[in-house]
Amino acid sequence: MKIGHVALSSPFVVAPMAGMTDTAFRRLVKRQGGCGLVVTEMVSSEGLVRGIDRTLEYAEYTEEERPVSIQIFGGDPAKMAAAAQIVEGMGADIVDVNMGCPVPKIARHSAGCSLMREPEQAAAIIDAMARAVKIPVTVKMRAGWNDRARNAPELARRMQDAGAAAVAIHGRTAEQSYSGSADWDLVERVAADLSVPVLGSGDCIEPAHVVERLHRGVSGVLVGRGVLRNPWILAQASDLAAGVPPRDITREERGTFLYDYLELLLSERVNEQEGFRHVAPGTAAPGAGRVLSDPAGVARGRERWVINKIRALSTWYSKGFDGGSHFRARVNRAASLAELREIIDEFFFAAAVSTTN
Ligand SMILES: Cc1cc2nc3c(=O)[nH]c(=O)nc-3n(C[C@H](O)[C@H](O)[C@H](O)COP(=O)(O)O)c2cc1C
Repeated sequence: MKIGHVALSSPFVVAPMAGMTDTAFRRLVKRQGGCGLVVTEMVSSEGLVRGIDRTLEYAEYTEEERPVSIQIFGGDPAKMAAAAQIVEGMGADIVDVNMGCPVPKIARHSAGCSLMREPEQAAAIIDAMARAVKIPVTVKMRAGWNDRARNAPELARRMQDAGAAAVAIHGRTAEQSYSGSADWDLVERVAADLSVPVLGSGDCIEPAHVVERLHRGVSGVLVGRGVLRNPWILAQASDLAAGVPPRDITREERGTFLYDYLELLLSERVNEQEGFRHVAPGTAAPGAGRVLSDPAGVARGRERWVINKIRALSTWYSKGFDGGSHFRARVNRAASLAELREIIDEFFFAAAVSTTN
């Protein structure tokens, strides 16, 4: 499968998820195999253009994640084009436009899913971006704004005409948010109509779902919450697609993944080799220019950030497991990393020993 000139080794993609698909998580999922593309969390075009540190960090990625798509959001064609040039300057393979976010904070500003209600503006954005960069410009949209406006089929065609190299569709409306189920019939219709690749998104929780969706005529499948629950889902889907039984993941391996994530987060931007991290041109190297006058305070800030990240992932990661809700409650109360490690140890490793004995 190819998006523009970018070849994907697998049609299975880590969907963009704000707060979740950070570079550490993407790296770890990629290492499990079966993943053809990763997409960053959505990044503000305004923040990129203004050079806001926090925004620039969201867009960072590492070489082992390649191919990488950086997703941006915004409603102004000139700013979106300028942001696309920054993304290109960072060496990203693809720049994706968010036309699916229903959150009022984003959608209020003619960005995210609001653009589905303003097709002229949406086309102007894609046209401006496609003229500004050489890397493929792609779009991720929903089925429509609400049930009375399920316009993904028309809008997707319009995006193709404006220069989009691929279109991804989450088969729910903005009004639905995450309720009900994704409309894969609609996704299938769009895939049949467009000449550029169409990728589908929504409700792939088991590896078999991912493979089944591929029979809907789409070129690829984006998996979101399924990856948060099971980071091996893309590798297992690849096994199934190759006609072999999906690999078995032990409880200890699940524990190790969480530990690895915690350790990667802890060491983000610490003593990294030059060039390890792809950053926006002109951005200071990681750590450089940071005021470390209060090392204890800095460490506490990072510990808090890592705890919050592990909490966010644990909400999904322990779903469906015996004792999962107890685990989540304990993780939510954890006040230190030491405590967090103990909880992970007890849930994934001690429990595994007691069930094998
Ligand atoms: C926590 C979370 C954050 C998300 N953030 C984004 C985002 O930043 N950009 C985007 O296009 N979609 C975002 N989505 C939507 C997903 O990419 C995906 O389309 C949706 O969750 C449906 O797929 P799933 O059923 O496989 O999760 C997010 C979804 C979740 C659950």
